[in-house]
Amino acid sequence: MVQYPMQTGPIGVFDSGYGGLTILQKIRELMPQYDYVYLGDNARTPYGTRSFDVVYEFTKQSVKKLFDLGCPLVILGCNTASAKALKSIQTNDLPQWGNERRVLGVIRPTVEAIDSITKSRHVGILGTVGTIQSESYPIEIKKLFPDITVNGNACPMWVPLVENSEYNSDGADYFVKKELDRLLSQDKDIDTIVLACTHYPLLIDKIRKYVPKEMNIVSQGEIVAKSLENYLSRHGDMENHIGRSASCKFYTTEAIEKFRKSASVFLHEEIEAERITLAL
Ligand code: DGL
Repeated sequence: MVQYPMQTGPIGVFDSGYGGLTILQKIRELMPQYDYVYLGDNARTPYGTRSFDVVYEFTKQSVKKLFDLGCPLVILGCNTASAKALKSIQTNDLPQWGNERRVLGVIRPTVEAIDSITKSRHVGILGTVGTIQSESYPIEIKKLFPDITVNGNACPMWVPLVENSEYNSDGADYFVKKELDRLLSQDKDIDTIVLACTHYPLLIDKIRKYVPKEMNIVSQGEIVAKSLENYLSRHGDMENHIGRSASCKFYTTEAIEKFRKSASVFLHEEIEAERITLAL
């Protein structure tokens, strides 16, 4: 069994594809001093329609790879992985791997932030089929804020639109409007929509077109970044193990050229990437 003792290294950010870049970007804006490694499992995206076991397996392989790359801390910048794999990794795998490194998700910080945003106490969640079916958001929201009514809607076409760089196309409008109408028809009092998939911020301009002007649209990047900053301020031992040369490396399981091009557009900067394969 592989053991991962604590060592100094970069913060790892993982996603099934490009979506986690929306999280990485905000984390780096807030804490540019640290080292980062991004891993996109683009060869096997999307995860949103995959079973629990497969998402767990794939996510575990990615976390292991990020540990191999020296990360003391990994952020699952993916709601689907956070919903389906985080708990199992924290409970089953981390103890076997040495128990000192940490894996954090994006759902808990998002749920904690909702309370101060919604006034009507009616919230809509948009996510992948996996995230919505897992009921992770309604369950977590009920635990912390039982007075909030939660409705969710899965948007199976939204991730492919982003992964295929079609998020600005006219065709995207059809799928964006369709899913928003579905969500809002479930509850007319919704005043806050959570983009519970890290790919969705790329569709924000289209989303704004089809909801009332006063609707709160919650993207997770800043929320997760602030929550991580807070976590590191409370966990000095972990913070001491994060490298501080302001570096950022990118890894993908797909062809480098495609990743490099799309990721550069997402991040508004030219990046280099390396291809890796994942296995247990
Ligand atoms: N970006 C991921 C999320 O936040 C999911 C994308 C996928 O379906 O792979 O859920």
